[in-house]
Amino acid sequence: MKKIAVINQKGGSGKTTTVVNTGAYLSLSGKKVLLIDLDPQAHTTIHLGFNPSEIKKSVYDVLVNEISIEDAMVQTKMKNLFLLSSKIDLASAEIELVNTIGREIILRDALKKYKNLFDYVLIDCPPSLGILTLNALTAVNEIFIPIQAEFFALEGLTKLIQTIKIIKERINPDIEISGVIITMYDQRKNICKEVLQKVEKHFKDKVFKTKIRENVRLAEAPSFGQTIITFAPNSYGAIDYKGLVREIIRGETHEKNRIRQRPVKLDNAYNPG
Ligand SMILES: Nc1ncnc2c1ncn2[C@@H]1O[C@H](COP(=O)(O)OP(=O)(O)O)[C@@H](O)[C@H]1O
Ligand SMILES: [Mg+2]
Repeated sequence: MKKIAVINQKGGSGKTTTVVNTGAYLSLSGKKVLLIDLDPQAHTTIHLGFNPSEIKKSVYDVLVNEISIEDAMVQTKMKNLFLLSSKIDLASAEIELVNTIGREIILRDALKKYKNLFDYVLIDCPPSLGILTLNALTAVNEIFIPIQAEFFALEGLTKLIQTIKIIKERINPDIEISGVIITMYDQRKNICKEVLQKVEKHFKDKVFKTKIRENVRLAEAPSFGQTIITFAPNSYGAIDYKGLVREIIRGETHEKNRIRQRPVKLDNAYNPG
């Protein structure tokens, strides 16, 4: 079971869009996938067509009330795609857990008993490095960082990499940044090319070859409660996420053949300059 956190504390970098559409294409290719919406804004939940106010059990209940993931998750419109949803009460989890010992490993422990129930678990993280994100970082073995190809895109990456390094040293030695995804890419814009060059210089072969192009259909799909697969299957957005998933699955085969990709050195904190 591959457990991947999609993280970038910068809002609007394409986390939710990536979690939803990557999850959808993984499940279309026969993988059994669980998406965990760890953002109190519940965008992944809404994107998949659910109304957060009608949700009975959510990831909040797993973290605060200790109910099992199986009891709280729901099936989406796709056969192999499941969701552990979010709703606004998740925002108070941080405060409610303040006196709980081991509050940063609750999600890890909740996932522990499902060794092979899913092929992939993808976690959509909130735009902060608080207790919810820490729960994601201790629960996964891989991290995908989506980076929007724009001027401020690289701000905050140093802090993120330092946080991951501390988690790796203190709590979760298995964790690696295994993929960097360039989102909202427009090859006509010089700034996009500059961002891409800087990101490739630092993250090297961790950067997925597939760039997610800027595509209005990707931005429209959430308000229809649909993934790009049903909303606009021929759009650039669909083509790009399909390509990304092909790369992810290819990486899986490589791993099985023990061709380990070189991990990103976490001690060299990212220097945007
Ligand atoms: N490739 C893209 N092209 C155009 N708009 C996009 C693309 N990816 C995401 N968006 C839009 O940009 C906004 C931020 O994306 P989102 O995935 O919600 O980011 P995050 O979860 O990191 O805050 C959303 O309105 C989303 O629909
Ligand atoms: Mg989001």
